[in-house]
Amino acid sequence: MRTLDDLDVKGRRVLVRADLNVPLDGETITDDGRIRASVPTIKALTGAGAKVVVCAHLGRPKGRPTPGLSLKPVAERLAELLGEDVAFATDVVGDSAHGVVDALREGQVALLENLRFEPGEESKDDAERGAFAEKLAGLAELYVGDGFGAVHRKHASVYDVPRLLPHAAGGLIVAEVEVLKKLTEDTERPYVVVLGGAKVSDKLGVIANLLAKVDRLLIGGGMAYTFLKAQGYEVGKSLLQEDQLDQVRGFLNEAAERGVDLVLPVDVLAATGFAEDAPYDVVEATAIPADREGLDIGPKTRELFAAKLADAKTVFWNGPMGVFEFDAFSGGTRAVAETLIRADALTVVGGGDSAAAVRKFGLPEDGFSHISTGGGASLEYLEGKTLPGLAALED
Ligand code: 3PG
Ligand code: MG
Repeated sequence: MRTLDDLDVKGRRVLVRADLNVPLDGETITDDGRIRASVPTIKALTGAGAKVVVCAHLGRPKGRPTPGLSLKPVAERLAELLGEDVAFATDVVGDSAHGVVDALREGQVALLENLRFEPGEESKDDAERGAFAEKLAGLAELYVGDGFGAVHRKHASVYDVPRLLPHAAGGLIVAEVEVLKKLTEDTERPYVVVLGGAKVSDKLGVIANLLAKVDRLLIGGGMAYTFLKAQGYEVGKSLLQEDQLDQVRGFLNEAAERGVDLVLPVDVLAATGFAEDAPYDVVEATAIPADREGLDIGPKTRELFAAKLADAKTVFWNGPMGVFEFDAFSGGTRAVAETLIRADALTVVGGGDSAAAVRKFGLPEDGFSHISTGGGASLEYLEGKTLPGLAALED
């Protein structure tokens, strides 16, 4: 994969595909992690005298300009973090984009409006996507792929534009891939993966692939209840994916056959309902009352997971252990994060909600070896899939 060092960018217009898909509360950015992660590549380019045209998506507007999903607030935050003006184009490939890009001088930065306001960006029709990619590529002379969180999407800005322009991978993509390689090749053992989140159906591919690689697989969060049920326990009103039970039984059998230690919660916080202030009791995971729902792993499970992580040399963690958005049910997720901070291991937080939780708790980000900017992308990488955005940069 070519890197920034392989491109001569001075005085040239460089289109940078970043992942600036940050959570917004109205116009307020509630977690700017992805914007901060995009800064070093942009700075490297401006420092080398490039005219930098950043493009990115926000949310899922489905091909139409959508109020509330403009990248304008992101342009403002990016400018603060860069300590430089960021010219904002109010369209993606229209008059505003052309005007803003034409006005750029060496070392200056522009941000285009939300790529997904254009139907061509995500189109499954190669011709429609290709036509939009041509327009986007027309704004620049060089392309830098740095939106790691979107590399699993076969979208125009990720997959097609690098085929049209001389290209390289930005520093963020290089760093992310370097870490993920350590989770898939010559991994230092014991290798322990902690998975959580609501739905087991989102993690089928990664579980299937990891069972052949890991020493231990710890499962918490909403998906754990489908595993408990598959073992024959009742889970009350907890999240349950009945249609995944066969699949999950298969995983339990495979883990046993392979000698993978698949660890499930032994106790949970069983609440009377899904609410911040819902009354709850700590109950054995095998004895969840019929009228209760598990909203977090319990104290014994937190200790058990810590013990299973104690001698790990490599840890990958994706997905919260409970409803961490509610303070009362955030303890399990916090405990896993704190255990990882103490661990003497390569510790990788796999983006998405786990990364958001780390920042919500105010835990030191440098307490982890790496916090990925891509939840879905890192999972698909670990699943062994070919990621369109990485494949396009390899060519
Ligand atoms: C993400 O937030 O997962 C990435 O930015 C990709 O966004 P998407 O899941 O909407 O494609
Ligand atoms: Mg996603």
